[in-house]
Amino acid sequence: MADEVRHAEICFGLASAYAGEPIGPGALDVSGGLEPRDLAAIAAATAREGCINETLAALVAAAARDAAADTAVCEALDAIVEDETDHAALAWGFVAWACERDPAARLAVLQVFGEAGAETVPQPKSKSAALAQAMRAHGQLPEDERRRVAARGLREVVLPCAQALLRSVPAGEARV
Ligand SMILES: [Fe+2]
Repeated sequence: MADEVRHAEICFGLASAYAGEPIGPGALDVSGGLEPRDLAAIAAATAREGCINETLAALVAAAARDAAADTAVCEALDAIVEDETDHAALAWGFVAWACERDPAARLAVLQVFGEAGAETVPQPKSKSAALAQAMRAHGQLPEDERRRVAARGLREVVLPCAQALLRSVPAGEARV
């Protein structure tokens, strides 16, 4: 949580520098965020938010860092990549533990990864080459490029990891 707050502070700092005026967050709706859940629901949410989204966030931030030219932006993205990678690793570890412990969690996680693998995302139109290059230099991948990095990360990192995780805990062998 502290990492995510720090990432927001870094990004609002960059946004304020670019805008020439202070820019900050608005209200965040957290209603329902702390409702009690069972292990299967927590594992499914962690698979979605941690294993998939944090892994892809790390890969997209790494691609943005590698394409950026501004030193302050590169340093900010480097810190974000490191933290997001740690968050993703923690999520994968928790989900593996939950799948070993509870067959219902394994089933819920299997469903999350199955849905992610079947999802098709429409590609937005490309920006002009000059605008795309300017965006990259300042650490912002154009949307079509960001989606390509995420799709490749899903195909080449997330889903193979999910398959390995689920193979390591065969259905019906989970320990309660
Ligand atoms: Fe994160």
